[in-house]
Amino acid sequence: MKEAALREAIAEAGRSLFARGYAVGTAGNISARLEDGFLITPTNSSLGTLDPARISKLDARFQHVAGDKPSKEVFMHRAFFQARPATGGVVHLHSTMATAIACLAQPGERRPIPPLTPYFVMRIGRDLPVVAYFRPGDPAMEEAIAAEAANASAVLLANHGPVVAGASLRDAVAAAEELEEAAKLALLLRGAHPRELSPAQIDDLLKTFG
Ligand code: 13P
Repeated sequence: MKEAALREAIAEAGRSLFARGYAVGTAGNISARLEDGFLITPTNSSLGTLDPARISKLDARFQHVAGDKPSKEVFMHRAFFQARPATGGVVHLHSTMATAIACLAQPGERRPIPPLTPYFVMRIGRDLPVVAYFRPGDPAMEEAIAAEAANASAVLLANHGPVVAGASLRDAVAAAEELEEAAKLALLLRGAHPRELSPAQIDDLLKTFG
């Protein structure tokens, strides 16, 4: 996608996520790959009111070259773009249900949400590693995320929230939404011993859609 269209697409994704309560205040950030670098939402911006022209542009080495000051979570996004070269977009949210799971799960856990529905498995995959707590914007989180991102398209940051990568911005947004719904189901059914998809059903999904 060309830069102008991608700027519009990020603003539209932010508006849509904010309007449906996936983001509040100035929480969350969105990035996408350009031919010659990356776009990322500016720090302290509301995802609900992004101005496409002011979205930050980074060069191929993640240096700020245009637009407003970039998100302090550039390192979080860079971890995915570098560890998963096919990544076209990354979405970080503080969405309520996924963040609740990020407060319950232990760092190092790999499957904090049970495989209850096909779309969770198709969009997120087998593993959703829980990464240790880091202060927002702490560059040290990059290494911790990158260590997991090679084998997982999404992580939960302990006591903070989800980070989700996709082959495109659209895929990343869809996966972030699916993760939030899966987290909601997991919490709704906590202790109720719901039926999980079997390893064979999960293999079938990943083989067919993965
Ligand atoms: P930024 O406003 O710097 O993007 O940070 C928001 C956020 O979600 C921190 O985790």
